Amino acid sequence: MYIKEIELTNFRNYKEQKVSFSRGVNIFIGKNAQGKTNLLEGIYLNAFGKSFKNIKDKELIKFGEDYCRIKTLSENEEGENTTEIAIRSDGRKGIKKDGIKVKKASELLDRIYIIIFSPEDLRIVKDEPEKRRKFINRELCQIRAGYLFDLNEYNRVLKQRNTYLKEKEIDGDLLDIWDRQLAACGTRIIRKRKQFIEKIDEISRDIHYGITNGEERLELKYEASIEPVDNLEDNFYGILAASREDDIRNGTTGKGPHRDDIRISADGIDLRRFGSQGQQRTAALSLKLSEIRIIEEEKGEKPILLLDDVLSELDNDRQLMLIQSLGENQMFITTTEIMESVAGRLPKGKYFKIVEGQVASEI
Ligand SMILES: Nc1ncnc2c1ncn2[C@@H]1O[C@H](COP(=O)(O)OP(=O)(O)OP(=O)(O)O)[C@@H](O)[C@H]1O
Ligand SMILES: [Mg+2]
Repeated sequence: MYIKEIELTNFRNYKEQKVSFSRGVNIFIGKNAQGKTNLLEGIYLNAFGKSFKNIKDKELIKFGEDYCRIKTLSENEEGENTTEIAIRSDGRKGIKKDGIKVKKASELLDRIYIIIFSPEDLRIVKDEPEKRRKFINRELCQIRAGYLFDLNEYNRVLKQRNTYLKEKEIDGDLLDIWDRQLAACGTRIIRKRKQFIEKIDEISRDIHYGITNGEERLELKYEASIEPVDNLEDNFYGILAASREDDIRNGTTGKGPHRDDIRISADGIDLRRFGSQGQQRTAALSLKLSEIRIIEEEKGEKPILLLDDVLSELDNDRQLMLIQSLGENQMFITTTEIMESVAGRLPKGKYFKIVEGQVASEI
């Protein structure tokens, strides 16, 4: 699966722009604030139906215009497909797949796998636990049917329970209903996370040995708020009951997958607390590369990679390591400049220059 072409109309700082891509590497070079990230956002939008930024749809419309449209042409073994998204300033959104209207953005996702890699991802090792949970969630939503549903359900019940815990009068029977529901969907989340972390632990160790010339043994360990034991659902329910007094006092739910974390260590040393900056970034790179391999193994498809500004955050060796290990995936790379030493060793592809919302092919 690869993206052949994108057409942007009134999207962000683009007025009218059509770009044809290479099925290999696409490199977008431009100064700050020219439209590099916007272009990646357009690509992402046509796969997921929404932006990777936490924004309202209408913010995607070019200032002063009343609608925007993003259209992509993609190709796989079965032929060509188009997807089209139009957003109006009143917030209405229309999505079409091969010219036919679809109701839900989730219908766009079928068989397109996209991995986005930004400087923020390089901080995943040293950031707070929430970022690591997000990483796991995003992955599991792409590879495990039902995970997104469980997660939404869990968050919905958790929110209700937390609101109720703040009330003056608490009815134990009512709380009990939420405890049962939390334990049920929470159990499914914990099981899937456990399995995923074990898998990524194995794969990332291998990749990390590669990046560090066999010098560092990377290890990922699920730090579950509720241990994934055999009779998990009963146990979860029991823990909620046992911590009920605390929860009422604190006005919030203290235990559950919303408090999970992953411990990332190298040669037994906790990298979050004791790793050097370079070690933390290298481990983050290993995790990211594992994500790609997992999608390839599980789905039999090469994911499309969006690398936003990550090259400049890596030293020469790691830049090369990254690009070479991704040889066959379609890639979209943005950068303010390309280092000489790396330029000559990039896989074949297309170069583009972006200036003030205008994209020009370099070749
Ligand atoms: N809805 C919009 N309408 C018009 N312009 C917009 C809109 N949203 C964002 N922009 C502008 O688009 C410009 C380019 O943004 P973008 O994030 O793509 O830059 P960039 O090339 O990735 O820069 P950097 O190298 O700093 O990351 C910004 O100056 C921003 O103000
Ligand atoms: Mg940018």
